[in-house]
Amino acid sequence: FPKAFIFDLDGVITDTAEFHYLAWKKLAKELGLSIDRQFNEQLKGISRMESLEKILALDPSLSAMSNEEKERLATEKNEYYLTLIDQLQPDAILPGIEQLLKKCVEQKVKIALGSASKNAQTIVEKLGLIEYFDYIVDAGKVEKGKPDPETFTTAADYLGVPYSDCIGLEDAVAGVEAVNSAQMFSVGVGSFEHLHHADYVVEDTSELIFEDIIKQYQKQRE
Ligand code: G6P
Ligand code: MG
Repeated sequence: FPKAFIFDLDGVITDTAEFHYLAWKKLAKELGLSIDRQFNEQLKGISRMESLEKILALDPSLSAMSNEEKERLATEKNEYYLTLIDQLQPDAILPGIEQLLKKCVEQKVKIALGSASKNAQTIVEKLGLIEYFDYIVDAGKVEKGKPDPETFTTAADYLGVPYSDCIGLEDAVAGVEAVNSAQMFSVGVGSFEHLHHADYVVEDTSELIFEDIIKQYQKQRE
């Protein structure tokens, strides 16, 4: 039986992945660039600055930009993002998530957050979910972001749980990769096209049923 569930935040617990996308899209537009959802898939799960770098790489004439200017743009994106999440409330918790958290508590499975966001703590508080979490790993707690496994291994280490007894839930390609390289069982939330490297894929969070996840986990561990 697994001992811990480690949840990604943006796009798994709440739909802030959409707000990140909208904020990047607006910033890109100001730079004379256009990004679409397909492009956005590679921005999921990676840090703010890494996301900006990927956008800037679309236009070679922007490659000479100073670090100060990059910082300014990253801050601008975040300010816009913060206005989008300002009104975030418990009704923004994605379907099935709270039931899943409750099941974990009931079954004595530990719960951690594994997010690349500097805004992670704030968001979990706004959603009213903070009490569920035994530990929160955010951008401030790791040196190497996803796809490096550090986000997930840091959570497991703190909880004192072997990696093979952990389940990581992710909507990002980089996130699933991080879970896999931590030797944990990966659950991908989203399209199979992007997340086929996960051990188990569901299309949306309403399909994150505790018993189903356990069944798949046990099947793979047999
Ligand atoms: C998460 C999201 C990314 C976001 C990153 C940094 O991993 O999936 O889209 O860029 O966090 O978030 P932050 O709130 O620190 O800008
Ligand atoms: Mg995510």
